[in-house]
Amino acid sequence: MVMDCQTWPEPVIRVQALAESGLTTIPECFIKPLSQRPTSLNNNNTSPNSPQQHQNNDLNIPTIDLGRLSGCPADREDTLRRMAEACQEWGFFQVVNHGVRPELMRSARAVWREFFHQAPEAKEAFANSPATYEGYGSRLGVKKGAILDWSDYFFLHYMPASLRKQAKWPNVPQSLREVIDEYGSEVVKLGGRLLKIMSTNLGLKEDYLMNAFGGEDEVGGCLRVNFYPKCPQPDLTLGISPHSDPGGMTILLPDDHVSGLQVLKANEWVTVKPLPNAFIINIGDQIQIMSNEIYKSVEHKVVVNSNNDRVSLAFFYNPKGNLVIEPAEELVTEEMPALYPPMTFDQYRLFIRTKGLCGKAQVQSMTSPKNSYN
Ligand code: OGA
Ligand code: NI
Repeated sequence: MVMDCQTWPEPVIRVQALAESGLTTIPECFIKPLSQRPTSLNNNNTSPNSPQQHQNNDLNIPTIDLGRLSGCPADREDTLRRMAEACQEWGFFQVVNHGVRPELMRSARAVWREFFHQAPEAKEAFANSPATYEGYGSRLGVKKGAILDWSDYFFLHYMPASLRKQAKWPNVPQSLREVIDEYGSEVVKLGGRLLKIMSTNLGLKEDYLMNAFGGEDEVGGCLRVNFYPKCPQPDLTLGISPHSDPGGMTILLPDDHVSGLQVLKANEWVTVKPLPNAFIINIGDQIQIMSNEIYKSVEHKVVVNSNNDRVSLAFFYNPKGNLVIEPAEELVTEEMPALYPPMTFDQYRLFIRTKGLCGKAQVQSMTSPKNSYN
């Protein structure tokens, strides 16, 4: 069946409006199959669920202090080593002393909270469609009858500058455009620094990944602001289903009060506990491909709760859409042949936008242990 990607397959349900209507049970279309539901803490370790359903609340993702990069050589070396380890073993880490002003981070969260707390009509003016996803949305994927996630979002393009259409960004609150303009520019700078470190750690030239992404003026950058409303039955649904991020790398500003992000580590879901003013960084599928799986994109999901709503700003730092992405030649050897065929990020992204999020199925479908593509 050919799907019409210009419109949503069924009327859009705004999750926030639903939550605010005071309902006590959630509609069926948000109820996940048993095997995908979050496990409550009480039955942890005693439940007969599949291994992936266990939660580990003692672990946390590694913390990298980027301030130590400008310290003595030993501190610098140690920081690089920790980051290499985090990229290989977790695919996720948090950075502190990253150079972005805490006040700017707070304002960025605050303007979006204000946006979501406006009257429904004000938000509907920005309603998006699956043709570009830009604007105010409530689902990913156009499969009719799909089980939905408990969240709304706002999606916008920041890079390249030619795609930055500020007229499509909300202007209430009035400072939103200005704040997000500055926030985007700081986050893009941070992304560039992280790409350099990752290139060096992979044994590539410092500017390898930046060039492979298309260079400073051509890299892609989009912001998805996630709004997770309170949920009367948080054990039956998820804020975002398990997925890996399709792009290069994600720079996430988590909520400052409410946790919810969980990361898969050795078949257990680890709840991310962010430090104050930290960004959460994770490897996306494109860096997994370019690094020929030395770095892996890792599955993550978001659980919701009945007491608090939650806001997060996910900045996707991506390769330019029409460049061919493939494993770096330097990382392809006889023992480790190229694990992925060349493909542009635009082609890759189309799958996700049609089918919605489905764990790591997309990147895994492109390779198999027997495959080699040199
Ligand atoms: C995402 C995502 C996590 C969060 O937007 O891709 O994984 O904590 N967000 O909101
Ligand atoms: Ni994600």
